[in-house]
Amino acid sequence: MTVLDMNKLKQATNLQEVLPEVWEALQHKVSRMIEQIGDKSPHVAPADTGVYDDMRHDWWTAGFWPGILWIMHEMTGKEHYKEAAWGWDEKFDQKSIQPSNFHHDVGFQYLPTAVIKYKLTGDVDGKRRGLLAANFLAGRFNIAGNFLRAWNQDKTGWAIVDSSMNLSLLFWAAEEIADPRFSMIAKAHADTVVNHFIREDGSVNHIVSFNPLTGEVIESLGGQGAGPDSSWSRGAAWALHGMANTYRYTGDMKYLRAAQRVAHYFLSMLPEDSVAHWDFRAAESLADEPRDTSAASCAASGLLELADALPGVQGRPYREAAERILLSLTQSYATWEHPEHEAILVEGTGNKPAGQNINVALIYGDYYYVEALAKLQGWKSRIF
Ligand code: GLY
Repeated sequence: MTVLDMNKLKQATNLQEVLPEVWEALQHKVSRMIEQIGDKSPHVAPADTGVYDDMRHDWWTAGFWPGILWIMHEMTGKEHYKEAAWGWDEKFDQKSIQPSNFHHDVGFQYLPTAVIKYKLTGDVDGKRRGLLAANFLAGRFNIAGNFLRAWNQDKTGWAIVDSSMNLSLLFWAAEEIADPRFSMIAKAHADTVVNHFIREDGSVNHIVSFNPLTGEVIESLGGQGAGPDSSWSRGAAWALHGMANTYRYTGDMKYLRAAQRVAHYFLSMLPEDSVAHWDFRAAESLADEPRDTSAASCAASGLLELADALPGVQGRPYREAAERILLSLTQSYATWEHPEHEAILVEGTGNKPAGQNINVALIYGDYYYVEALAKLQGWKSRIF
């Protein structure tokens, strides 16, 4: 049974009317998820079963579930969240000495595990693991093209917009050991995002291929979007949130303006219920295209970052937009009435062009929903 009054929730026209109850219900939900998820590394829960899979524990998504638990622990002080989160960064240690899948996404993996564990508990192994991951990420920097290379294989000149979110690992390391090399690399990559990924109209490329020896741009690629000129909504959310974070760390207005440009485009493309389709340019009519609730929750959290960055009335529209998105997710895309469902949000889209994970729950959609609601509840620390 949910502690939410569903009638009141459905009738709410403003998130603030129901926020305390939603936050309370979320705590119950996450506590139940601990029982349901156990030792699994959740990534995707299909719509028909609502049961999270058990993805390999070095997959790029492995940090999000522990990240939810750490935020809940910090916000409530309750130990069971911490106990369930504790061992995750230790698993990464074991994976890093086996043939592993570590790549540009060590930020997604280590920030919500090792780094937050260290921040909240002072655990020195968490710090060591976080710094190791930051060094690994810095080592992926291509000095000719000013980008962090994506993936491993043979795509030595590829960079992707998702890495905008990994930059916080480098900024954290720079502060932690007072070494500006890490933030110089992060800023150089962020400049490449501004110059080559965010288009003039605020839409965003997923992949840019560079000549890895000269740094010249070869071409843009569609990647997880509908095509090279399309507008993958989660890519936009990564850019929005990532550039807002970069502004928080650097104070450089160019990143704030870049985040605003993406935000304005993103908001202008939303359907009536404010939850993004998977690609804003997937088709002439988006009516039959799937939504992506992970793009929605990540963008909402990024919009709250923008709202915090801007004074008073300048920040208000971003906060209101974030609350509209979050209210819609809470009313129409959450599993409150189906406690057997192991996820929080339904209707995510993983990779539509590859035919993978369409109309499913995605753990990163759940993570950014929790992150955004925590921000509205006064959470001041940050992971990303
Ligand atoms: N490649 C990360 C994502 O699916 O957004």
